[in-house]
Amino acid sequence: MQSALNPNGVTITGTGFYVPTSLLTNLDLAASLDTSDEWISQRTGIRQRYIAETSTETSDLAVMAATDALHRAQLSPEDVDLIVVATSTPDYAFPSTAMLVKQKLGSRAPAFDLSAACSGFVYALSISSDLIKSGAYHNVLVIGADKFSKIMDWQDRNTAVLFGDGAGAVVLQSRPGASSSFSLLGSEERGADTLISPVTGPITMHGREVFKFGVRILESMLTKVMGELELSLEDIALIIPHQANVRIIEHAADKMNIPMDKFFMNIETYGNTSAASIPIALAEAVEQQRIQAGDIVVLAGFGAGLAWGVQVIQLG
Ligand code: ACO
Repeated sequence: MQSALNPNGVTITGTGFYVPTSLLTNLDLAASLDTSDEWISQRTGIRQRYIAETSTETSDLAVMAATDALHRAQLSPEDVDLIVVATSTPDYAFPSTAMLVKQKLGSRAPAFDLSAACSGFVYALSISSDLIKSGAYHNVLVIGADKFSKIMDWQDRNTAVLFGDGAGAVVLQSRPGASSSFSLLGSEERGADTLISPVTGPITMHGREVFKFGVRILESMLTKVMGELELSLEDIALIIPHQANVRIIEHAADKMNIPMDKFFMNIETYGNTSAASIPIALAEAVEQQRIQAGDIVVLAGFGAGLAWGVQVIQLG
């Protein structure tokens, strides 16, 4: 991280999240699928997830999360000068989900979607930080929102047990004097077919390959970013990984000798909400006072592509 007097400081000044009200437990799934609460919770760490009504679209989830984040940042929609929505489940091919969010919020800001599956939020945060550092924008609303329930084959136990719907958002602001943000983005040379969904679904996945990729890339990106910034574990308040499977995180933590309590986990409650998983976890960590203003957090995303991204950023 650059010095405390860095003129290009970028911080997160507000976080928010929203999940729909309809709860789907492992036991509910086991009633219609050849699976069990025990299998799902032991293999993934998931106990339940929330599923949106048919009439609730990704943009609706995003607006709820964005409103929460703006409120906490004490900004109104007119103050926002750019909106970026990371999603793989847009409401329409066009207009973008971000344009719908903009309209529903009552903003005139430019707005666009970014598609990088479960890495989408970190990609969006990285690009938005760089746009702020360039001086082009000052107050950016970065949202991760997904409604995977609409692209799921509910008869496929390989995937149906994993995902949930939701949205998380942050307000990203220029703040001279704050630390600069830092990110690394990347992808694998191969593996685009490892986890795939046509626009209308259903998802198909080679679970074991994705699992192995998750463990390897999490270790590799955390090692790289800590090395580049000369960060020790003590410098980092919390690591917020994409919530894909608690065992992926446990394996990587074990390999790196990092205690599990350095990682924030909430997969038990929400399942894998794809682009929403990191901002939901971030907002919950703030709400639970696990992190506060001034803290350095590391956000680590990985998923379809196979893509990955890690972002180091300070809370404002
Ligand atoms: N319920 C009960 N049994 C099941 C289920 C289920 N839902 N799914 C598979 N099984 C069975 C299999 O048939 C197999 O049975 P067998 O031994 O008789 O052949 C056994 O359980 C083991 O199956 P595996 O697929 O080897 O199980 P694994 O331990 O690998 O767990 C899982 C599967 C949970 C999918 C794991 O591989 C995983 O989490 N992978 C990563 C998935 C992921 O993170 N995807 C999202 C990425 S993010 C994004 O970009 C969208």
